[in-house]
Amino acid sequence: MHKDCERIMLTEEQLRARVKEVAEQVNGLYKDKRPLVVGILKGSIIFYSDFIRHLTVPVELDFMAVSSYGTGAVSSGKLKIKKDLDKDVKGRDVIIVEDIIDSGFTLANLKALLYERGAASVMIVTLLNKEGRREYDIEPDYNCFDIENEFVVGYGLDYNEMYRSLPYIGILKREIYE
Ligand code: PRP
Repeated sequence: MHKDCERIMLTEEQLRARVKEVAEQVNGLYKDKRPLVVGILKGSIIFYSDFIRHLTVPVELDFMAVSSYGTGAVSSGKLKIKKDLDKDVKGRDVIIVEDIIDSGFTLANLKALLYERGAASVMIVTLLNKEGRREYDIEPDYNCFDIENEFVVGYGLDYNEMYRSLPYIGILKREIYE
């Protein structure tokens, strides 16, 4: 385990098994369809690449990078698009793949935006869900793990852009971020 981690919350084995299980559930919903799978950079990259490899339906891949203007806790905040999709979502079935839902700001805004652009359907798949932190009215359609409000890193998730490449989800020691 990395020396900056207090403990491992989710092991590689737990992640592998659950991601496969969720992808298999999603497969059943898209028979005869060709969904556009949208990864939200950068946190989702490892989850995204593991998840899509279990999909048996034909998919197209695309990515977005977003951030909030101002502080995320302010409801008047707006979503800033740092990198937009390459594809037109009009009439498409979209699967958004996220690493974590916290306040819900990002996904509430993103889902509304994709519908505004004419998406036929928008489904949200997230690796982690911090239900207790929710401030916006949004729920994932598929969620791999419900977690408490711990500072988690690894498997794509960062602190100051570090720890993303750890193969497990670890809880960061308080002394690192306090
Ligand atoms: C994280 C995460 C979500 C968002 C969740 O992204 O990937 O996009 O925050 O928070 P919310 O529910 O309160 O909106 P971050 O801005 O840390 O970027 P990153 O994916 O590049 O690490």
